[in-house]
Amino acid sequence: MARKKIALIGSGMIGGTLAHLIGLKELGDVILFDISEGLPQGKGLDIAQSSAVEGFDAAFQGVNDYAGIEGADVCIVTAGVPRKPGMSRDDLLGINLKVMEQVGAGIKKYAPKAFVICITNPLDAMVWALQKFSGMPKSHVVGMAGVLDSARFRYFLSEEFNVSIEDISAMTLGGHGDDMVPMVRYSTVGGIPLPDLIKMGWTSQEKLDAIVERTRKGGGEIVGLLKTGSAYYAPAASAVAMAESYLKDKKRVLPCAAYLSGQYGLKDMYVGVPVVIGAGGVERVIELDFNKDEKAMFEKSVGAVKSLCEACEGIAPQLK
Ligand code: APR
Repeated sequence: MARKKIALIGSGMIGGTLAHLIGLKELGDVILFDISEGLPQGKGLDIAQSSAVEGFDAAFQGVNDYAGIEGADVCIVTAGVPRKPGMSRDDLLGINLKVMEQVGAGIKKYAPKAFVICITNPLDAMVWALQKFSGMPKSHVVGMAGVLDSARFRYFLSEEFNVSIEDISAMTLGGHGDDMVPMVRYSTVGGIPLPDLIKMGWTSQEKLDAIVERTRKGGGEIVGLLKTGSAYYAPAASAVAMAESYLKDKKRVLPCAAYLSGQYGLKDMYVGVPVVIGAGGVERVIELDFNKDEKAMFEKSVGAVKSLCEACEGIAPQLK
């Protein structure tokens, strides 16, 4: 059986890390696409040479023409600009919306059957625009945010409890902004929900609140440290988990920005919810029963996503 073809639209910091991880995991052959000439070719060659040492079999090709992504099984989109200190994800909207229009046209023409994972920020609005610009099936266009936000939450919890990260399960829903909703009630350590761990004296409400707040601002913390760009190792790992679930039909339950057509009382928008990803793309949207506080937080986050989509419609009226 021929290897799968994975196209990376954008070969910057996340794109390069994606290519490396995909090679190490032998998920398929990689096409690196970028508008910058030489960048995808150089990264592709560098990673291909590392395969001799690591011992993985995968081909890497850098291209500057969308024709190179023809027939891709998966496309992972990071094209656009990242944040600099002082910028919010929303500040990227105008520039990255134009990029999504080009990317949508390129994928529609050359890889219309692909499973598309968008990472470009502001995420929930960009994946919504990318689906509209590309006209691809909604089950096959999804945004990466919840896996990353939950990974940050899990990491902070593992530090707090001094237990293996493997035994921590956490869920962060809503939009990929500072109003995101870390779901304390549905997050567990070895199956024990966080509220029970407070009762057991493992942590305090104050400490947990601080972890939730740090999770919400987790991306900004890294932007502040790096100064010249935003996070790339954890975002790339998160998107690879989603791609792997699709390619191997693992049917993992992952929080992703998925298209809603009535679930959670919302229509025609993308927002972070738990979904099942398998060979059919987003095969199922899981509808949780929120309590009053969770509902209020989710609605606030949804409101922020809606205003971003409206701003997109103001710039590109064809999105209406
Ligand atoms: N088409 C294709 N590639 C483009 C385009 C375009 N129209 N415009 C920019 N690019 C490329 C750039 O040349 C660059 O190589 O996108 C790449 C982006 O890479 P980085 O600047 O290194 O950004 P990165 O850290 O990878 O983040 C990409 O993901 O998390 C989000 O907020 C982040 O929106 C940003 C995106």
